Amino acid sequence: MTITCRKANPTDVDALHELIQGYAAKGIMLPRSREALLRHIDSFFVAEEGGMLIGCGSLFRLGADLVEIRSLGMAEGYKGKGLGTMIVNALIEEARAMKTPKVMALTYAVDFFLKNGFKVVDKEIFPEKVWTDCVHCSKRHACDEIAVVRVLNESVPS
Ligand SMILES: CC(C)(COP(=O)(O)OP(=O)(O)OC[C@H]1O[C@@H](n2cnc3c(N)ncnc32)[C@H](O)[C@@H]1OP(=O)(O)O)[C@@H](O)C(=O)NCCC(=O)NCCS
Repeated sequence: MTITCRKANPTDVDALHELIQGYAAKGIMLPRSREALLRHIDSFFVAEEGGMLIGCGSLFRLGADLVEIRSLGMAEGYKGKGLGTMIVNALIEEARAMKTPKVMALTYAVDFFLKNGFKVVDKEIFPEKVWTDCVHCSKRHACDEIAVVRVLNESVPS
């Protein structure tokens, strides 16, 4: 069956919630309520196969020149098939379309991001981040996630 990547719409909220909750329960992602997902649904891309949601990722604006990749996750059984890369590429194109040159993430999957053109940086260089999501995170005083960033070059398509 064909796998496609598209922008999310409100009918995806329940499946998105289930996928993200699964990772939130393992401490890999921050939980998102259905209400929050609906409010920010336009920032999500999803991968689907035969009408089933099998992956997601979103872009959150942290500043005029900086967006963050959030809630990036593939369903079990769909990892390692290039879907994460497909969604990151869609999010990078979205950042380009928004004329936002820097895309960051906080992650444990460092090699995945390195393979997608990101580099590891000191998370202290993103003070904007601390005042948005981190204040809601139980690990905020002992964050062990690694910050990665990709600076987009307008002349080179990803
Ligand atoms: C991390 C994740 C999104 C990657 O998506 P994916 O579809 O499995 O990744 P891809 O198939 O596009 O992999 C691209 C490359 O990254 C590497 N990679 C994939 N997942 C990785 C991980 N968790 N850690 C390190 N490297 C990883 C792969 O080995 C692959 O390398 P290759 O091309 O040399 O084989 C996915 O594994 C996932 O959902 N993980 C759990 C949730 C999570 O950690 N999300 C990240 C939060 S920021």
